Amino acid sequence: MAILLPGGAGYIGSHTAVELLNAGREIVIIDNFSNSKPEVLDKIKTITGKDFKFYEMDYRDKDALNKVFSENNIDAVINFAGYKAVGESVQKPIEYYENNIGGCLALLDVMRKYNCKKFIFSSSATVYGDPEVIPITEECKVGGTTNPYGTTKLFIEQILKDVFVSDNSMDICILRYFNPVGAHSSGLIGEEPQGIPNNLMPYVVRVAAGILPELSVFGNDYPTPDGTGVRDYIHVVDLAKGHVKALEKLDRENSGLYIYNLGTGTGYSVLDMVKAFESSTGKIVKYKIAPRRAGDIATCYANPKKAEEELGWKAEKTLEDMCRDSWNYIEKSQN
Ligand code: WQD
Repeated sequence: MAILLPGGAGYIGSHTAVELLNAGREIVIIDNFSNSKPEVLDKIKTITGKDFKFYEMDYRDKDALNKVFSENNIDAVINFAGYKAVGESVQKPIEYYENNIGGCLALLDVMRKYNCKKFIFSSSATVYGDPEVIPITEECKVGGTTNPYGTTKLFIEQILKDVFVSDNSMDICILRYFNPVGAHSSGLIGEEPQGIPNNLMPYVVRVAAGILPELSVFGNDYPTPDGTGVRDYIHVVDLAKGHVKALEKLDRENSGLYIYNLGTGTGYSVLDMVKAFESSTGKIVKYKIAPRRAGDIATCYANPKKAEEELGWKAEKTLEDMCRDSWNYIEKSQN
């Protein structure tokens, strides 16, 4: 019985592949390397000492998906594939809707044909829009997404709810990630944004490494303790372990649709992050205060209790681990 990982060579997919292999699971990865590199596959094997099957393909290609399902005994799908750049999604909405939603529909269609019922979906805290309550629980209202990327996550969640209504024997888990950062402690796999990064941590490490001149802190007049935006940063290895726990939950249940926040429950500001990065790496992060970025909200952090109670999962790594591992990865990949 294998677990299929579309997008398994990507940032969160590769870390989850490692945790699944470490937990003794058989995996099959499919990826078209649109935002990842083939070397990642060898690195997963180096870290775990384990092998797995790989198919280079687009996850929207149903003929290729049929081949994967016919050649392997796929018990569950954890879907990491999809485009994820917020700014780019505003410029390319058609590509985002086509890839993220089309890919997910292709997977669900082929799963149906092969009677595969377990599906875990990478959603995002972005589905909460400007949250009505902090910390955010899974019961908070969703909607009000501010870009096509976020709207693809919202729409796919709705599609999964509709699919579950049509087939109650499905076993579906939606995981709403907060802000994933960090890298595997080996420094072999990590986040590899193309071009100039949009997200805070990849930007901070590149400023510290001298690749970018300085960080622009987007706004210091938010209603937060120091005026800068507050987020729930979660170590990618903790996040990856959340998928293993979600899979165990689906193994325990015959059917159902479950939604969990994967966050730490603690919010840190942009300046907290800069200070934590400097103290855990000894590097200086040059920054200036800049205007607010369009679409940003003041504060976003999770109430992660439901995942703790129902999955037995809790983020364990510290902010220092996140900073150190992000730095370790860029240092290693630079050499
Ligand atoms: C964090 C904080 C910025 C960059 C986005 C997506 C979300 C998810 C994760 C995943 C904010 C500030 C940032 C910079 C800054 N997507 N910042 N200077 O916006 O919470 O979430 O990434 O694929 O869907 O919306 O994350 O890391 O961009 O920003 O001051 O150069 O850092 O304003 O307060 P965000 P982020």
